[in-house]
Amino acid sequence: MRILVVGGAGYIGSHVVKALLDSNIKVRVFDNLSTGQEINLFQTAEFIKGDILDSDALLNALDGVDGVVHLAAKKAVGESMEHPEKYAQNNITGTLNLLNAMVQQKVNYFVFSSSAAVYGMPKETVLDETVPVHPINFYGFTKLEIERFLGWYDRLKGIKFISLRYFNAVGYDETGAIKGLEKNPQNLLPIIMETAIGQRESFSIFGNDYPTPDGTCIRDYIHVSDLASAHVLALQYLTQNNQTQILNLGTGRGLSVLEIVKKTEELLNLSLNYRFADRRHGDPAILTASAKKAKEVLGWEPTHSDLENIIRSTYRVYQS
Ligand code: UFG
Repeated sequence: MRILVVGGAGYIGSHVVKALLDSNIKVRVFDNLSTGQEINLFQTAEFIKGDILDSDALLNALDGVDGVVHLAAKKAVGESMEHPEKYAQNNITGTLNLLNAMVQQKVNYFVFSSSAAVYGMPKETVLDETVPVHPINFYGFTKLEIERFLGWYDRLKGIKFISLRYFNAVGYDETGAIKGLEKNPQNLLPIIMETAIGQRESFSIFGNDYPTPDGTCIRDYIHVSDLASAHVLALQYLTQNNQTQILNLGTGRGLSVLEIVKKTEELLNLSLNYRFADRRHGDPAILTASAKKAKEVLGWEPTHSDLENIIRSTYRVYQS
């Protein structure tokens, strides 16, 4: 099997590439290196520098490929509300180019990086895949739209897909194989780490008056190596069952912002400089996954996601 990993030089993409290579699957990476980094590339994977807006480059990259994992997307929620045009062009137009190129090259298996952002602000605090989808930011809208396009491409063109709705991706490969740090991170853990290594003076906790035990938001933090293993299983499932699925990827365990901060201080034996600030617009109080379906369908279970492992694996990369 040869798999094209679109966005394979990025944070999650590089972990997916590693998991595929570790399973003896041949990998070709396609990435424009806009946020992906050369340092994340593996010598044992082919690399094509190219952009998903370039249909000819995609046709070329898909030559001789059995399936595609697509992770090349813009993902900053705040930016998507300020510049929806960038998100429409990259996440929607770019993905449609990719699907059309797949149709032309007769590549029928597609694993899509979707997001818990498709759910918006649900009433439920533990989400399974039947919870109604009402994205409240443009980023989540782009992910949901692609899932809907995929439904049509499945029916009309026989593209079988697995859409993986990631919850909060965190952590780094424990063997130290992946070293690229995200530039201008917007997410909690990289911001905590930048503070821990002294690259950032302090950070804010957005809101301490949520209806949660300590007043800070609760999320479902899933180690990126666990996310990566789900992609390998998804490709195996597609080739064996030729069937489409939409699956949540999370642990089912909720952790508050303050719990993460305190655990980081304890494990790293340091004191972090932070203050409580106003709530961030659009943050739901609690978002956790039911990942029962991923277990049933793929036999997938997180094995890297305990908080200590998440913090230590991330700190190691930031420290070095
Ligand atoms: N937070 C802070 N301070 C910061 C950054 C974040 O307090 O400096 C808080 C947020 O308010 C939130 C929690 O930490 O309560 C997690 O925030 P992140 O920005 O790390 O992650 P989000 O839950 O907002 O979103 C992430 C991804 C989305 C994805 C979502 C799925 O960025 O793309 O997880 O659950 F859709």
